[in-house]
Amino acid sequence: MFLEDCKILENVEVAKNMYLMKLKGTKAIPETVSGQFFMLQCKNSGVFLRRPISIHYINKKESVLEFYYEVKGKGTKDLSAAKTGDYINIQGPLGNGFIKEGTGKKVLVIGGGMGIAPMKYLLEELNNLGSNITFIAGGRNRGALKILDNIDLKGIITHITTDDGSQGTHGRVDMKMRELLEKERYDLVYTCGPEKMMESVAKIATENNIKCFVSLEARMACGVKACVGCSIKTKDGMKKVCHDGPVFDSTIIVEMNPKEKTETCCGN
Ligand SMILES: Cc1cc2nc3c(=O)[nH]c(=O)nc-3n(C[C@H](O)[C@H](O)[C@H](O)COP(=O)(O)OP(=O)(O)OC[C@H]3O[C@@H](n4cnc5c(N)ncnc54)[C@H](O)[C@@H]3O)c2cc1C
Ligand code: FES
Repeated sequence: MFLEDCKILENVEVAKNMYLMKLKGTKAIPETVSGQFFMLQCKNSGVFLRRPISIHYINKKESVLEFYYEVKGKGTKDLSAAKTGDYINIQGPLGNGFIKEGTGKKVLVIGGGMGIAPMKYLLEELNNLGSNITFIAGGRNRGALKILDNIDLKGIITHITTDDGSQGTHGRVDMKMRELLEKERYDLVYTCGPEKMMESVAKIATENNIKCFVSLEARMACGVKACVGCSIKTKDGMKKVCHDGPVFDSTIIVEMNPKEKTETCCGN
């Protein structure tokens, strides 16, 4: 785990309130895997705690680290104000990352909304493992899926769904998942997105006897298992999302939405 100042190469608004930040050359790159996250410092807003943001992508050749984030409150607003050439302090990589069992396997990757953020690097890693990949990307509307322009989907069977029908199939990712499962069999499912979506995806995976990995979110204070801010109850006992997760086998999860319970201990 590293703590370092990184130079911002760009920080652009890809769609309303959704930003792509590229950082140059962190020492953490060689040991970072998809599904892990960094704690980003928001130094100008008076927000004390760092904010957890997933790895969107790592360009190892050019030593560039990408984050894709949505402005929600003070911390992410602060991040969005950063300019090219500024420096940002980041801490990571943190968490376990996606457990890659995809070698030569048929995998279904499902990202909804900002849950698409960790999928870009996962897709590349799975591709490198020789997996047969189907990707379902869902969003509220076409704008919310603008980030797909930044993802290399060559060789990946891709299905798009939008809630308003402005792009791809009108509907939700779980509908598309059910439709695909009528014709195809998959070995593994990886998913990230809103809790309700992940609940539904995990349920369908279980019904179809497919192993499913979910990437959870929880309010975090330290990000390094030093507090109890992100503790969740699982069928295997208490776990810390920042350390034991954020990726979990869906069958041990009791509730996909642990964050509200811990909101008071993480404050801001
Ligand atoms: C492991 C992990 C990876 C994440 N990766 C990304 C990512 O790649 N891109 C991205 O946009 N966001 C990501 N998030 C969520 C992001 O950390 C929060 O949106 C951010 O911390 C909000 O900070 P804020 O100061 O802007 O908002 P706050 O003022 O703290 O909160 C504003 C609103 O956002 C909600 N919120 C705050 N923290 C979280 C949280 N952890 N999860 C869900 N809702 C929250 C609050 O309930 C509140 O309604 C991730 C969270 C975790 C735990
Ligand atoms: S955020 Fe402190 S233990 Fe996980």
